[in-house]
Amino acid sequence: MSTDINTSIDIQKTTKSNISQIDFSNLSFGNVFTDHMLECDFKDGQWQTVQIRPYGPISLDPSAKVFHYGQAIFEGMKAYKGEDDSIWLFRPEENHARLNKSAVRLAIPEFPKELFFDGLETLLNLDKDWIQKDEGSSLYIRPFVIATEAGVSASPAQEYKLMILCSPAQSYYSGEVRVLFADTYSRSASGGVGFAKCAGNYAGQFYPTKLANDAGYQQVVWTDASTHENLEEAGTMNVFFRIGDTLLTAPTSDRILDGVTRKSVLAIAEDEGINVTVRTISVFEIEEAAKNGNLLEMFGAGTAAVINPITGFCFQGVDYELPKLTNSYAAHFKERITGIQTKKSEDTFGWTYKVRKI
Ligand code: COI
Repeated sequence: MSTDINTSIDIQKTTKSNISQIDFSNLSFGNVFTDHMLECDFKDGQWQTVQIRPYGPISLDPSAKVFHYGQAIFEGMKAYKGEDDSIWLFRPEENHARLNKSAVRLAIPEFPKELFFDGLETLLNLDKDWIQKDEGSSLYIRPFVIATEAGVSASPAQEYKLMILCSPAQSYYSGEVRVLFADTYSRSASGGVGFAKCAGNYAGQFYPTKLANDAGYQQVVWTDASTHENLEEAGTMNVFFRIGDTLLTAPTSDRILDGVTRKSVLAIAEDEGINVTVRTISVFEIEEAAKNGNLLEMFGAGTAAVINPITGFCFQGVDYELPKLTNSYAAHFKERITGIQTKKSEDTFGWTYKVRKI
C-alpha cells in the first residue's frame, strides 16, 4: 500500500455536523452514526469511484437482489484515538481479508485492499471528532456489501454497493450472560456459510435466540448441526472455556467464523504461557467439568464486546452456574486487548495500524 491516500475519492462534506446533539456518555450500541458514510458501486464489471457523502438514506430498486436472496456481507471493526489525537485501527488487514473471503462464498466481487484502506482512512479523517478518548470509547466501523442489481432472477447480481458506516461506541457491557446450549436449532452446517460474515447467518439466529431469551437466557451457544454435541460459537461471538488452567476453543472450520478477537486471545495466551488447546469440545465434557467444579470460565470473544463473560449455562434442561473468580482469564484478556487497541499498553504483536492523516 502506498503511503499517500488516493485523492480521486469523491467527497461531499456535510454542511451541518450532528455531533453537538450526541450524548457520548449515554450511547446504546449501533444506534448513532457519524456525519459521513462511504459508498462504492460495482457495475460494468468493476468497482467505481469511492464516494463519501453525508450520512443518510439510500435509494434501491425494490427488486434489488439483496432483498430477495440475501446477497449481503459485512464486517465489524473499531477505531480508537490516542492521547496525541492519532487514530488507530486494530488488525484492519484481517477484516479486509475476511470481507473478501465472505465475498467469494456469496459470489460477490472482492473489494480491492487499496481502495478499502484509502476510503476508510479518508472517512475516519473526516469524522475524527466522533472518536472519543474516554476510557472504553471507540468508533465501531461497519463495512458491508449488498447486491443492488434490480430483478428477482435467482442468480448472483451484476451490481453491488459497498458502504462503510461509523458509529461511536462505549464499552460494551451486556450484563450477566447466561446461555443455552443449542439442541434443536443450528447456526451453520458443513459446506455452508458459517465461516462467512453474511447477513443471513445473523438473521437465522434471531428466532432461536428469542426463544432462549423468553426462557431466561441471553444467548445461545451453537453446537454442530449434525449431532448437537460439539460446542462451536456463542451468539455472534467465538466461545472459550477454561477448565482448570487450560483455555479451550473450537478450531475454525467452514462452520465457524475466524474471529479477529479469537485469534488475538489465542496469540496473547500463547505469548503468556497460558495452556491453550484448540480442539473439538463436547457438551458432555463441559457438563462433566461443571459438575466436578473444574469448569472455571466461559466467555465469548468478538469485536463489539471484545470479551463477554458467561455466568452460567443450560444443557438438557439443567442449569449450571460458573464460579465468580478474582483472577479471571476473561477480565485479563479484555484488559490486554483493549490496552493494545487504545495504545495504553505496548503493542508487541504489531496489531495496531495508524490511520494516515490527510
Ligand atoms: C462482533 O462482535 O464481532 C459482531 O459481529 C457483533 C455484531 C453482530 C453486532
